[in-house]
Amino acid sequence: MKILVTGGAGFIGSCFVLQRVNSSDFIINLDKLTYSGNIENLNAVSDKPNYAFVRGDIGDSELVKKLLEEFQPDAVVNFAAESHVDRSIVDPDIFVRTNVLGTEILLRTVKEWWENLPTEKKDNFRLHHISTDEVFGTLKLEDPAFTEETPFAPNSPYSASKASSDHFVRAFNETYGLPTLITNCSNNYGPRQFPEKLIPLMTLNAISGKKLPIYGTGENIRDWLHVEDHCEAIYEVLTKGKVGETYNIGGKSERTNLFIVNKICSILDDIKPREDGKSYKEQITYVKDRLGHDFRYAINCAKVERDLGWTPRHTFEEGIKETVQWYLDNPSWVESIKTGEYRKWLEANYNGRE
Ligand code: NAD
Ligand code: DAU
Repeated sequence: MKILVTGGAGFIGSCFVLQRVNSSDFIINLDKLTYSGNIENLNAVSDKPNYAFVRGDIGDSELVKKLLEEFQPDAVVNFAAESHVDRSIVDPDIFVRTNVLGTEILLRTVKEWWENLPTEKKDNFRLHHISTDEVFGTLKLEDPAFTEETPFAPNSPYSASKASSDHFVRAFNETYGLPTLITNCSNNYGPRQFPEKLIPLMTLNAISGKKLPIYGTGENIRDWLHVEDHCEAIYEVLTKGKVGETYNIGGKSERTNLFIVNKICSILDDIKPREDGKSYKEQITYVKDRLGHDFRYAINCAKVERDLGWTPRHTFEEGIKETVQWYLDNPSWVESIKTGEYRKWLEANYNGRE
């Protein structure tokens, strides 16, 4: 299969590219290399004949058109996005530019190329948009998990921009018949996640002797899924999903933030004890809550399990241990991302909290 992947230098996109290149699919990876895109994420496949990287923006219609015409992909999988809620609170504009306008330009450009394809290629083509459970808003403890029928109620600028992009994808299917698929996934964890997100941030702060900043009470709940499981689910939906539909992907692993941070500390206490013999839990500190902080996300993924036979392979207990170990084993990766834009942003926005 020939796939044009966008945002494939980021955390989830790079995992998908690695899986697909190693399974002999042909991949072109179009990525702008923003602060969270890291070309080193693709080191393992960069020399393979079935992989090529192009630096560019999904909102650059001319470039996307050229790639579509030259590569003639069977599918486009759109991971490209601004992905961090805290950043969207500080600076929402770029979230609209990339997640809303960028997605719309990508859809329009793909649609214009797709309408002129021969019938069989046209029918078999897929545009798969990667989205988030945050479009559904927030849950109380006693609420049932999000299903595909849960109404959208996005609360942060990030989730509002993702909800908007999902609506555009749906509209391009309804209006023009573009064969689209959408997956809405819960929180991912695993190797190569940019350390602004909870798990890598806490792991790397802990071993650097820094504070572990918990927003509010730490009772907020997320539903954690290993990134490799997510990417396997995406491939199942891409190849077997019903056109025009959405699929929820989740880990069936709801945990409070406090549980996660304590777990990371316990793992580190075992595998890399502090020199003073104390627990890393000593570094936990409670800080001002995130504005509009969603209390709980939980995914009901019965549809993808029932219709496509996918289910997560990793248990959270094993997955989190391997993940913490990965960040310890890859100091050169950590160095490669701790420069440039990220450093500047942290200094401007996170003073004293890191
Ligand atoms: P990430 O920030 O690690 O990666 C995003 C990638 O997109 C980067 O490589 C970046 O350079 C690229 N990019 C950004 N703007 C671009 C543009 N205009 N043109 C081309 N490339 C651009 O994000 P991630 O965590 O890997 O998330 C990938 C996708 O999955 C996003 O759409 C996100 O909303 C969604 N998602 C993430 C999670 C999660 O837990 N991380 C969960 C569900 C859904
Ligand atoms: O649910 C899917 C979403 O998960 C994705 O769509 C987003 O792209 C991804 O970033 C993630 O969003 P969250 O806001 O849930 O992830 P984050 O890692 O930023 O935060 C997880 C929880 O931890 C959240 O309740 C806020 C809290 N937190 C986070 C950070 C960075 C802290 O308490 N302290 C922190 O320093």
